[in-house]
Amino acid sequence: MYLTKEEERILNGDFGLWPAKAMKLLVAQGELNDAKRMIKIERAHISGVSYKTAGLPMIELLEDMVRNGVRVKIFSTLNPAGMDLERWKELGVPEDFAKLQKRLIDAYVKLGVIPTLTCAPYLAENRPKFAEPVAFSESSAVVFVNSVLGARTNRNGNLDVLSAAIVGRIPKMGLLLKENRRGTTLIKVKAKPNGEYYYGLLGLYVGNILSPREIPVFELESKPGIWEMRALGAGLAAAGSTAMFHIVGITPEAKNREEAFQGDQPKERLAIQHSDLISFEQEHFPSDIEPDLIAIGCPHATIEEIKEIARKIGNRKVKNNVRFWIYTSRYVKQKLRDIGILNKLEMQGIKIISDTCMVVSPIEALGIKKVYTNSGKAAWYIPKLTKNLAVAKIKSLDQIINKVTA
Ligand code: F3S
Repeated sequence: MYLTKEEERILNGDFGLWPAKAMKLLVAQGELNDAKRMIKIERAHISGVSYKTAGLPMIELLEDMVRNGVRVKIFSTLNPAGMDLERWKELGVPEDFAKLQKRLIDAYVKLGVIPTLTCAPYLAENRPKFAEPVAFSESSAVVFVNSVLGARTNRNGNLDVLSAAIVGRIPKMGLLLKENRRGTTLIKVKAKPNGEYYYGLLGLYVGNILSPREIPVFELESKPGIWEMRALGAGLAAAGSTAMFHIVGITPEAKNREEAFQGDQPKERLAIQHSDLISFEQEHFPSDIEPDLIAIGCPHATIEEIKEIARKIGNRKVKNNVRFWIYTSRYVKQKLRDIGILNKLEMQGIKIISDTCMVVSPIEALGIKKVYTNSGKAAWYIPKLTKNLAVAKIKSLDQIINKVTA
Protein backbone atom coordinates (compact mmCIF):
# COMPACT_ATOMS: atom_id res chain seq x y z
CA MET A 1 0.00 0.00 0.00
CA TYR A 2 1.41 3.38 -0.99
CA LEU A 3 2.03 5.83 1.87
CA THR A 4 3.04 9.47 1.54
CA LYS A 5 6.20 10.67 3.29
CA GLU A 6 4.11 12.16 6.08
CA GLU A 7 2.13 8.94 6.52
CA GLU A 8 5.38 6.99 6.76
CA ARG A 9 6.61 9.38 9.45
CA ILE A 10 3.39 8.90 11.43
CA LEU A 11 3.80 5.12 11.08
CA ASN A 12 7.42 5.31 12.22
CA GLY A 13 6.46 7.13 15.41
CA ASP A 14 7.78 10.63 14.55
CA PHE A 15 4.52 12.10 15.91
CA GLY A 16 4.26 9.85 18.96
CA LEU A 17 3.35 6.35 19.98
CA TRP A 18 -0.45 6.56 19.66
CA PRO A 19 -0.56 8.13 16.17
CA ALA A 20 1.86 5.37 15.12
CA LYS A 21 -0.41 2.70 16.58
CA ALA A 22 -3.43 4.29 14.91
CA MET A 23 -1.66 4.37 11.54
CA LYS A 24 -0.52 0.77 11.95
CA LEU A 25 -4.08 -0.40 12.52
CA LEU A 26 -5.35 1.53 9.48
CA VAL A 27 -2.55 0.31 7.22
CA ALA A 28 -3.18 -3.30 8.28
CA GLN A 29 -6.84 -2.85 7.50
CA GLY A 30 -6.05 -1.27 4.14
CA GLU A 31 -3.66 -4.04 3.15
CA LEU A 32 -6.17 -6.69 4.12
CA ASN A 33 -8.70 -5.05 1.80
CA ASP A 34 -6.32 -4.26 -1.10
CA ALA A 35 -6.45 -0.51 -0.56
CA LYS A 36 -3.96 1.27 -2.80
CA ARG A 37 -3.52 4.29 -0.58
CA MET A 38 -4.87 6.39 2.29
CA ILE A 39 -7.34 9.21 1.82
CA LYS A 40 -7.58 12.37 3.94
CA ILE A 41 -10.90 12.97 5.70
CA GLU A 42 -12.38 15.90 7.59
CA ARG A 43 -14.97 14.29 9.86
CA ALA A 44 -15.53 11.26 12.05
CA HIS A 45 -18.30 9.96 14.27
CA ILE A 46 -17.28 7.64 17.10
CA SER A 47 -19.38 4.97 18.82
CA GLY A 48 -18.44 2.90 21.89
CA VAL A 49 -19.37 5.67 24.30
CA SER A 50 -21.77 3.94 26.68
CA TYR A 51 -20.07 2.44 29.69
CA LYS A 52 -22.61 -0.41 29.37
CA THR A 53 -21.09 -1.53 26.05
CA ALA A 54 -17.53 -0.11 26.23
CA GLY A 55 -16.54 -1.10 29.79
CA LEU A 56 -13.48 -0.26 31.88
CA PRO A 57 -10.82 -1.32 29.31
CA MET A 58 -12.05 1.45 26.98
CA ILE A 59 -11.75 4.06 29.75
CA GLU A 60 -8.20 2.93 30.51
CA LEU A 61 -7.21 2.99 26.85
CA LEU A 62 -8.56 6.52 26.35
CA GLU A 63 -6.97 7.80 29.56
CA ASP A 64 -3.63 6.41 28.46
CA MET A 65 -3.98 8.36 25.20
CA VAL A 66 -4.83 11.50 27.18
CA ARG A 67 -1.72 11.09 29.37
CA ASN A 68 0.33 10.84 26.20
CA GLY A 69 -1.05 14.10 24.81
CA VAL A 70 -3.08 12.59 21.95
CA ARG A 71 -5.63 14.88 20.20
CA VAL A 72 -7.92 14.10 17.30
CA LYS A 73 -6.94 15.88 14.08
CA ILE A 74 -10.38 16.27 12.52
CA PHE A 75 -13.92 17.24 13.50
CA SER A 76 -15.14 14.27 15.53
CA THR A 77 -18.44 13.68 17.32
CA LEU A 78 -19.66 11.12 19.84
CA ASN A 79 -22.48 8.57 19.85
CA PRO A 80 -24.91 8.30 22.81
CA ALA A 81 -23.62 7.45 26.26
CA GLY A 82 -25.27 5.23 28.85
CA MET A 83 -27.18 8.04 30.58
CA ASP A 84 -28.62 11.53 30.32
CA LEU A 85 -25.84 13.67 31.79
CA GLU A 86 -28.34 16.02 33.45
CA ARG A 87 -31.23 13.71 34.42
CA TRP A 88 -29.45 10.48 35.28
CA LYS A 89 -30.38 10.60 38.99
CA GLU A 90 -34.02 11.32 38.28
CA LEU A 91 -34.07 8.41 35.80
CA GLY A 92 -32.65 5.98 38.36
CA VAL A 93 -29.19 5.33 36.89
CA PRO A 94 -26.93 3.74 39.54
CA GLU A 95 -24.27 6.08 41.02
CA ASP A 96 -21.33 3.74 40.22
CA PHE A 97 -22.39 3.52 36.59
CA ALA A 98 -22.70 7.32 36.38
CA LYS A 99 -19.17 7.88 37.72
CA LEU A 100 -17.60 5.52 35.21
CA GLN A 101 -19.71 6.93 32.39
CA LYS A 102 -18.53 10.48 33.16
CA ARG A 103 -14.90 9.30 33.23
CA LEU A 104 -15.33 7.79 29.78
CA ILE A 105 -16.84 10.94 28.28
CA ASP A 106 -14.23 13.17 29.96
CA ALA A 107 -11.47 11.16 28.33
CA TYR A 108 -13.02 11.59 24.88
CA VAL A 109 -13.42 15.32 25.49
CA LYS A 110 -9.75 15.63 26.50
CA LEU A 111 -8.87 13.99 23.19
CA GLY A 112 -10.73 16.81 21.45
CA VAL A 113 -13.89 14.90 20.51
CA ILE A 114 -17.12 16.96 20.63
CA PRO A 115 -19.54 15.31 23.11
CA THR A 116 -22.63 15.50 20.92
CA LEU A 117 -23.79 12.17 22.39
CA THR A 118 -26.19 11.43 19.58
CA CYS A 119 -26.47 8.73 16.95
CA ALA A 120 -28.00 11.26 14.56
CA PRO A 121 -25.07 13.70 14.23
CA TYR A 122 -26.23 14.47 10.68
CA LEU A 123 -29.26 16.35 12.10
CA ALA A 124 -26.98 19.16 13.14
CA GLU A 125 -23.28 19.23 13.81
CA ASN A 126 -21.86 16.48 11.65
CA ARG A 127 -23.63 16.18 8.30
CA PRO A 128 -21.39 14.96 5.46
CA LYS A 129 -21.87 16.18 1.91
CA PHE A 130 -22.67 14.06 -1.14
CA ALA A 131 -19.65 11.90 -2.12
CA GLU A 132 -17.60 13.09 0.86
CA PRO A 133 -15.44 10.33 2.38
CA VAL A 134 -15.86 10.10 6.16
CA ALA A 135 -15.26 7.66 9.01
CA PHE A 136 -18.46 6.86 10.91
CA SER A 137 -18.98 3.99 13.32
CA GLU A 138 -22.62 3.97 14.33
CA SER A 139 -24.35 1.42 12.10
CA SER A 140 -27.59 3.42 11.71
CA ALA A 141 -25.64 6.58 10.88
CA VAL A 142 -23.38 4.67 8.47
CA VAL A 143 -26.31 3.35 6.45
CA PHE A 144 -28.09 6.74 6.54
CA VAL A 145 -25.15 8.82 5.31
CA ASN A 146 -24.27 6.28 2.60
CA SER A 147 -27.78 5.69 1.31
CA VAL A 148 -29.73 8.89 1.93
CA LEU A 149 -27.02 11.58 1.87
CA GLY A 150 -24.76 9.81 -0.64
CA ALA A 151 -21.66 10.44 1.50
CA ARG A 152 -19.16 7.59 1.76
CA THR A 153 -18.21 5.57 4.80
CA ASN A 154 -17.47 1.98 5.62
CA ARG A 155 -19.13 0.28 8.53
CA ASN A 156 -16.22 0.83 10.89
CA GLY A 157 -15.50 -0.35 14.40
CA ASN A 158 -15.08 2.37 17.03
CA LEU A 159 -11.30 1.86 17.30
CA ASP A 160 -10.96 2.18 13.53
CA VAL A 161 -12.76 5.52 13.64
CA LEU A 162 -10.83 6.76 16.65
CA SER A 163 -7.61 5.87 14.79
CA ALA A 164 -8.86 7.67 11.69
CA ALA A 165 -9.71 10.72 13.81
CA ILE A 166 -6.20 10.73 15.32
CA VAL A 167 -4.38 10.63 11.97
CA GLY A 168 -7.05 12.29 9.78
CA ARG A 169 -6.97 9.52 7.20
CA ILE A 170 -8.57 6.20 6.27
CA PRO A 171 -7.62 3.53 3.76
CA LYS A 172 -9.37 4.08 0.45
CA MET A 173 -11.41 0.89 0.22
CA GLY A 174 -14.88 -0.62 0.43
CA LEU A 175 -17.75 1.83 0.17
CA LEU A 176 -15.40 4.76 -0.35
CA LEU A 177 -15.02 3.47 -3.93
CA LYS A 178 -17.91 4.07 -6.33
CA GLU A 179 -17.69 0.59 -7.87
CA ASN A 180 -18.32 -1.01 -4.46
CA ARG A 181 -21.53 0.97 -4.02
CA ARG A 182 -23.25 -0.97 -6.81
CA GLY A 183 -26.50 -2.68 -5.79
CA THR A 184 -26.42 -6.47 -5.62
CA THR A 185 -29.94 -7.65 -4.74
CA LEU A 186 -33.20 -6.43 -6.24
CA ILE A 187 -36.03 -6.37 -3.72
CA LYS A 188 -39.59 -5.76 -4.90
CA VAL A 189 -41.88 -4.89 -2.04
CA LYS A 190 -45.47 -5.84 -2.86
CA ALA A 191 -46.98 -3.78 -0.08
CA LYS A 192 -47.43 -0.14 0.72
CA PRO A 193 -45.05 0.51 3.62
CA ASN A 194 -46.02 3.48 5.73
CA GLY A 195 -44.47 5.01 8.86
CA GLU A 196 -41.20 4.37 10.71
CA TYR A 197 -42.63 1.24 12.34
CA TYR A 198 -43.37 -0.46 9.03
CA TYR A 199 -40.08 0.57 7.40
CA GLY A 200 -38.15 -0.57 10.48
CA LEU A 201 -39.84 -3.96 10.25
CA LEU A 202 -39.04 -4.19 6.53
CA GLY A 203 -35.40 -3.35 7.33
CA LEU A 204 -35.19 -6.08 9.97
CA TYR A 205 -36.80 -8.63 7.64
CA VAL A 206 -34.41 -7.93 4.78
CA GLY A 207 -31.32 -7.46 7.00
CA ASN A 208 -32.02 -10.83 8.55
CA ILE A 209 -31.89 -12.69 5.23
CA LEU A 210 -29.21 -10.79 3.29
CA SER A 211 -25.63 -12.10 3.22
CA PRO A 212 -22.90 -9.77 4.51
CA ARG A 213 -21.75 -7.05 2.09
CA GLU A 214 -24.91 -7.24 -0.03
CA ILE A 215 -26.38 -3.90 -1.11
CA PRO A 216 -30.16 -4.16 -1.48
CA VAL A 217 -31.97 -2.16 -4.15
CA PHE A 218 -35.62 -1.63 -3.25
CA GLU A 219 -38.45 -1.07 -5.68
CA LEU A 220 -41.35 0.22 -3.62
CA GLU A 221 -45.02 0.88 -4.29
CA SER A 222 -44.98 3.88 -1.95
CA LYS A 223 -42.67 6.85 -1.61
CA PRO A 224 -40.87 6.95 1.75
CA GLY A 225 -39.95 10.16 3.51
CA ILE A 226 -36.44 10.77 4.79
CA TRP A 227 -37.17 9.47 8.32
CA GLU A 228 -38.86 6.35 7.00
CA MET A 229 -35.71 5.67 4.97
CA ARG A 230 -33.71 6.17 8.13
CA ALA A 231 -35.86 3.58 9.93
CA LEU A 232 -35.39 1.17 7.02
CA GLY A 233 -31.60 1.55 7.20
CA ALA A 234 -31.47 1.18 10.98
CA GLY A 235 -33.45 -2.06 10.75
CA LEU A 236 -31.25 -3.39 7.92
CA ALA A 237 -28.08 -2.62 9.86
CA ALA A 238 -29.40 -4.07 13.13
CA ALA A 239 -30.54 -7.45 11.84
CA GLY A 240 -27.74 -7.77 9.29
CA SER A 241 -24.53 -6.08 8.36
CA THR A 242 -25.95 -3.83 5.66
CA ALA A 243 -24.09 -0.55 5.29
CA MET A 244 -25.94 0.83 2.29
CA PHE A 245 -29.16 0.47 0.30
CA HIS A 246 -30.72 2.09 -2.73
CA ILE A 247 -34.37 2.88 -3.43
CA VAL A 248 -35.03 3.20 -7.15
CA GLY A 249 -36.15 6.70 -8.07
CA ILE A 250 -35.49 8.09 -4.59
CA THR A 251 -31.98 7.72 -3.12
CA PRO A 252 -29.26 9.85 -4.72
CA GLU A 253 -27.29 7.07 -6.43
CA ALA A 254 -30.35 5.28 -7.84
CA LYS A 255 -32.21 7.56 -10.22
CA ASN A 256 -33.27 4.39 -11.97
CA ARG A 257 -32.62 0.67 -11.66
CA GLU A 258 -29.72 0.80 -14.09
CA GLU A 259 -27.89 3.43 -12.06
CA ALA A 260 -28.46 1.52 -8.81
CA PHE A 261 -26.80 -1.58 -10.30
CA GLN A 262 -24.24 0.51 -12.23
CA GLY A 263 -25.29 -1.16 -15.48
CA ASP A 264 -25.01 -4.74 -14.11
CA GLN A 265 -27.74 -7.30 -13.54
CA PRO A 266 -28.89 -8.04 -9.95
CA LYS A 267 -27.14 -11.08 -8.46
CA GLU A 268 -30.35 -12.01 -6.68
CA ARG A 269 -34.02 -11.05 -6.76
CA LEU A 270 -36.51 -11.13 -3.95
CA ALA A 271 -40.22 -10.33 -3.67
CA ILE A 272 -41.71 -9.42 -0.31
CA GLN A 273 -45.41 -9.41 0.58
CA HIS A 274 -47.12 -7.74 3.52
CA SER A 275 -47.85 -11.22 4.96
CA ASP A 276 -44.07 -11.99 5.09
CA LEU A 277 -43.54 -9.00 7.36
CA ILE A 278 -46.44 -9.90 9.62
CA SER A 279 -45.19 -13.52 10.00
CA PHE A 280 -41.71 -12.18 10.78
CA GLU A 281 -43.13 -9.83 13.38
CA GLN A 282 -45.10 -12.65 15.04
CA GLU A 283 -42.06 -14.92 15.07
CA HIS A 284 -39.61 -12.40 16.56
CA PHE A 285 -41.62 -10.19 18.89
CA PRO A 286 -43.92 -11.03 21.80
CA SER A 287 -47.57 -11.31 20.79
CA ASP A 288 -48.75 -8.67 23.24
CA ILE A 289 -47.52 -7.22 26.47
CA GLU A 290 -48.54 -4.56 28.92
CA PRO A 291 -45.65 -2.10 28.57
CA ASP A 292 -43.88 -0.46 31.47
CA LEU A 293 -41.81 1.71 29.12
CA ILE A 294 -42.61 3.43 25.83
CA ALA A 295 -39.29 4.10 24.14
CA ILE A 296 -39.26 6.34 21.06
CA GLY A 297 -36.17 7.68 19.34
CA CYS A 298 -34.00 4.93 17.87
CA PRO A 299 -32.22 6.43 16.00
CA HIS A 300 -32.53 9.64 18.04
CA ALA A 301 -35.84 11.36 17.39
CA THR A 302 -36.03 14.30 15.02
CA ILE A 303 -37.95 17.52 15.63
CA GLU A 304 -40.51 16.44 13.03
CA GLU A 305 -41.07 13.11 14.77
CA ILE A 306 -41.57 14.74 18.17
CA LYS A 307 -43.88 17.37 16.73
CA GLU A 308 -45.92 14.56 15.20
CA ILE A 309 -46.18 12.84 18.59
CA ALA A 310 -47.27 16.12 20.20
CA ARG A 311 -49.92 16.56 17.50
CA LYS A 312 -51.23 13.00 17.82
CA ILE A 313 -51.42 13.20 21.62
CA GLY A 314 -53.25 16.52 21.59
CA ASN A 315 -54.34 17.24 25.16
CA ARG A 316 -54.30 13.66 26.41
CA LYS A 317 -51.98 12.54 29.22
CA VAL A 318 -49.85 9.44 29.62
CA LYS A 319 -51.37 6.92 32.04
CA ASN A 320 -49.68 6.77 35.45
CA ASN A 321 -48.49 3.16 35.25
CA VAL A 322 -46.24 3.64 32.21
CA ARG A 323 -43.11 5.65 31.47
CA PHE A 324 -43.13 7.41 28.07
CA TRP A 325 -39.59 8.39 27.14
CA ILE A 326 -38.40 10.00 23.92
CA TYR A 327 -34.66 9.86 23.26
CA THR A 328 -33.05 12.60 21.22
CA SER A 329 -30.03 14.86 20.96
CA ARG A 330 -29.37 17.98 23.04
CA TYR A 331 -29.62 19.97 19.84
CA VAL A 332 -33.17 18.75 19.15
CA LYS A 333 -34.13 19.10 22.82
CA GLN A 334 -33.08 22.76 22.77
CA LYS A 335 -35.13 23.35 19.60
CA LEU A 336 -38.16 21.82 21.35
CA ARG A 337 -37.59 24.17 24.28
CA ASP A 338 -37.34 27.12 21.88
CA ILE A 339 -40.67 26.34 20.20
CA GLY A 340 -42.47 25.60 23.49
CA ILE A 341 -43.16 21.89 22.94
CA LEU A 342 -40.77 20.55 25.58
CA ASN A 343 -42.66 21.78 28.65
CA LYS A 344 -46.04 20.78 27.31
CA LEU A 345 -44.92 17.21 26.61
CA GLU A 346 -43.27 16.92 30.04
CA MET A 347 -46.51 18.13 31.68
CA GLN A 348 -48.38 15.43 29.76
CA GLY A 349 -46.10 12.75 31.23
CA ILE A 350 -43.53 12.40 28.44
CA LYS A 351 -39.86 12.72 29.31
CA ILE A 352 -37.48 14.03 26.67
CA ILE A 353 -34.14 12.37 27.33
CA SER A 354 -30.87 13.33 25.69
CA ASP A 355 -27.32 11.92 25.53
CA THR A 356 -28.44 8.28 25.68
CA CYS A 357 -30.98 5.74 24.44
CA MET A 358 -33.09 2.74 25.44
CA VAL A 359 -30.50 0.31 24.11
CA VAL A 360 -27.22 1.64 25.51
CA SER A 361 -28.55 2.74 28.91
CA PRO A 362 -29.06 0.21 31.71
CA ILE A 363 -32.90 0.05 31.53
CA GLU A 364 -32.83 -3.41 33.10
CA ALA A 365 -31.28 -1.89 36.24
CA LEU A 366 -34.39 0.31 36.50
CA GLY A 367 -36.62 -2.77 36.63
CA ILE A 368 -38.00 -2.23 33.11
CA LYS A 369 -39.16 -5.53 31.63
CA LYS A 370 -41.59 -4.75 28.82
CA VAL A 371 -41.11 -2.09 26.20
CA TYR A 372 -43.17 -0.74 23.32
CA THR A 373 -41.22 1.02 20.60
CA ASN A 374 -41.84 2.14 17.03
CA SER A 375 -38.23 1.27 16.15
CA GLY A 376 -37.24 -2.01 14.53
CA LYS A 377 -33.66 -1.54 15.68
CA ALA A 378 -34.62 -0.95 19.32
CA ALA A 379 -37.04 -3.89 19.36
CA TRP A 380 -34.29 -6.10 17.95
CA TYR A 381 -31.54 -5.05 20.36
CA ILE A 382 -33.34 -4.53 23.68
CA PRO A 383 -33.63 -8.24 24.57
CA LYS A 384 -30.06 -8.91 23.42
CA LEU A 385 -28.43 -6.04 25.31
CA THR A 386 -30.42 -6.63 28.49
CA LYS A 387 -29.57 -10.37 28.44
CA ASN A 388 -33.28 -11.08 27.88
CA LEU A 389 -34.27 -9.27 31.06
CA ALA A 390 -36.51 -7.06 28.95
CA VAL A 391 -38.64 -7.79 25.89
CA ALA A 392 -39.77 -5.31 23.27
CA LYS A 393 -42.77 -5.12 20.98
CA ILE A 394 -42.69 -3.02 17.83
CA LYS A 395 -45.85 -0.95 17.23
CA SER A 396 -46.87 2.08 15.21
CA LEU A 397 -46.98 5.49 16.88
CA ASP A 398 -50.78 5.55 16.64
CA GLN A 399 -51.11 2.17 18.33
CA ILE A 400 -48.70 3.20 21.09
CA ILE A 401 -50.33 6.55 21.76
CA ASN A 402 -53.85 5.13 21.78
CA LYS A 403 -52.81 2.41 24.21
CA VAL A 404 -51.07 4.50 26.85
CA THR A 405 -52.79 7.87 26.91
CA ALA A 406 -56.14 8.94 28.30
FE1 F3S B 1 -29.14 5.34 18.39
FE2 F3S B 1 -29.31 3.86 20.50
FE3 F3S B 1 -30.75 3.30 18.42
S1 F3S B 1 -27.47 4.70 19.68
S2 F3S B 1 -29.58 4.00 16.69
S3 F3S B 1 -30.92 5.14 19.65
S4 F3S B 1 -29.60 1.87 19.63
